Amino acid sequence: MEKAVVVGAGAMGHGIAQLLAMAGFETWLVDVKEEILDKALNQVRWSLGKLVEKGRVREEEAKKVLERMKTTVNLEDAVRDAKVVVEAVPENLELKKQVFGRLGKATQPNTLLATNTSSLSITEISKAVEKPERVVGMHFFNPPVLMPLVEVVKGEYTSDEVAGFAMDLARRMGKTPILVRKDVRGFIVNRILISMFTEVCLAVCRGEATIEVVDAAVKYKAGLPMGAFELADYIGLDVAYNISKVMEEAYGERAKVCPELEKLVKEGKLGQKTGKGFYDWSVGYPRIPFKLADKYDVWRIYVVSVNEASWLLKEDVATPQDIDTAIKLGTSWVQGPCELGDELGLDLVLSRLRELHMKYKEEIYKPCPLLEEYVGRGWLGRKTKRGFYIYE
Ligand SMILES: NC(=O)c1ccc[n+]([C@@H]2O[C@H](COP(=O)([O-])OP(=O)(O)OC[C@H]3O[C@@H](n4cnc5c(N)ncnc54)[C@H](O)[C@@H]3O)[C@@H](O)[C@H]2O)c1
Repeated sequence: MEKAVVVGAGAMGHGIAQLLAMAGFETWLVDVKEEILDKALNQVRWSLGKLVEKGRVREEEAKKVLERMKTTVNLEDAVRDAKVVVEAVPENLELKKQVFGRLGKATQPNTLLATNTSSLSITEISKAVEKPERVVGMHFFNPPVLMPLVEVVKGEYTSDEVAGFAMDLARRMGKTPILVRKDVRGFIVNRILISMFTEVCLAVCRGEATIEVVDAAVKYKAGLPMGAFELADYIGLDVAYNISKVMEEAYGERAKVCPELEKLVKEGKLGQKTGKGFYDWSVGYPRIPFKLADKYDVWRIYVVSVNEASWLLKEDVATPQDIDTAIKLGTSWVQGPCELGDELGLDLVLSRLRELHMKYKEEIYKPCPLLEEYVGRGWLGRKTKRGFYIYE
């Protein structure tokens, strides 16, 4: 049986290990303490139980999956004959480099080394390994067992063969992989989400809307599954803040960290898990009144996400199809930003961005040159049969 190893058995690691075992690998979970590993295996047992209950996995198969899973605190022993290693230790570059340094030495020269980092540079992490071409990003979404998307990220040194192997592996794990061709911060999904979040934070900080007003519009008018602030509270404001910081470092003013987010994190208000964040979760799930939905213009989040998608295209990070698929599978939006832009009309998106930029002088509204180029060519979207896509 082929062997796979997951390093780090926390929130993501145990789910990724479960998927590998379900894909037929003898799967080893590695962590620093036995208790953590026991807890991780219990979580896998619970998850498999749920899948059996829902009829998605047969009981016999669930038993076999568990038999294929082993745990250890000895990383070197576990990875020696592994075909695949996925790292899911905390989001800290020094720690990840240390782990990859050990992996580089202890694994076979052709073992695939994947990192589940959300925001760090794959290229930087890969430098800790003698053959950096075998290091690739495999960004799973939480919870990995249920979320269908994996962003497969090529670092500067990642070989095409290794990226292809990671794509096949994700498919074998039952996921839809999207190739992120460049090692840009935020990959695809977080780039688009952060652009939207930057806009709504600005609106709130300028006193133009409250968080409830924004979330009502985002949910009931734009039809997104969760409000922007509700989502931030749900994923954890510390996680959102760390990603925002990385994005601000990479993109400057265009991805400015929201001062309100920073303040809440400093006060230890981290969202749902601590009971307080943008909302007060101690009194229950936030109630977002429908009647507020008209008080914030959702075109503003539309145009910034279409603009960010244009930047991704300009930087050759992914195709329009891949950007849209990533957003739909990673966030459950019904439409991706490229489809949306083509439907709204790229000329209207551009003129709205110009208006906002003129009014507020914020970088987030500065139109991407690619968008200007498309409009200049008369590629305005569906209405001209050409925009981000070509329509027959
Ligand atoms: N939680 C999410 O929603 C999410 C989503 C996508 C990606 N990610 C990324 O996945 C990675 C893991 O995140 P998480 O939320 O599962 O973290 P976590 O803190 O829940 O789990 C990390 C685990 O790694 C273990 N660990 C630490 N040092 C180790 C070492 N040297 N060797 C072996 N194990 C070690 C810890 O004991 C812990 O159990 C991060 O890079 C994060 O950015 C997280």
